[in-house]
Amino acid sequence: MDTCSSQSALDVIMSRRSVRTFTDKEVSEAQVETLLRAAMAAPSAGNAQPWEFVVMRDKKLLAQVPAINPYAAFAPKASVGIVVCTDPNHEKFPGYWVEDTSAATQNLLLAAHALGLGAVWTGVYPDKDRVSAFRSLIQAPERIIPMAFILIGYPQNLPKPADRFLPERIHQNIW
Ligand SMILES: Cc1cc2nc3c(=O)[nH]c(=O)nc-3n(C[C@H](O)[C@H](O)[C@H](O)COP(=O)(O)O)c2cc1C
Repeated sequence: MDTCSSQSALDVIMSRRSVRTFTDKEVSEAQVETLLRAAMAAPSAGNAQPWEFVVMRDKKLLAQVPAINPYAAFAPKASVGIVVCTDPNHEKFPGYWVEDTSAATQNLLLAAHALGLGAVWTGVYPDKDRVSAFRSLIQAPERIIPMAFILIGYPQNLPKPADRFLPERIHQNIW
């Protein structure tokens, strides 16, 4: 993998946006591996790395996603989806899996953007219906908790970077 300077890492962070329209070009297996390596490089409480990932390319499965989450209506157009899950058996400090899997998800989104791909995080946990519907869709055991569903493809439209810096949200030493 290419090394990147801190400046280009900052550029990637500041210019990442959610991409919901994709071309027909397929994301390669090598690219998916890079994305998952980035996800698994994330920090986690006690370095527990409580994540599991389901890579979904089957169009029949992707076609079922809009019925689970209407805000993921574009899922069938994505080249690949990745269900980010946790397995509580991997946990060291109960409860921190939400932050751990979220950090992995953000790493994956940033890596996708760095590779010139487009991606969007669609919400699963803590919506109970979505959690159980995704668990059924991927035929995972009852203990597995799907946390997020990331859709990835080559971007058709690339939203412009957004400046969301709010100095009034910053407190010095005390609130
Ligand atoms: C926990 C979470 C759940 C989200 N769920 C959805 C979703 O279901 N569908 C969707 O299109 N975008 C979803 N998003 C993406 C947000 O809408 C998006 O990140 C936000 O509007 C900011 O835009 P940006 O990502 O382009 O900077 C979700 C993002 C997060 C962090």
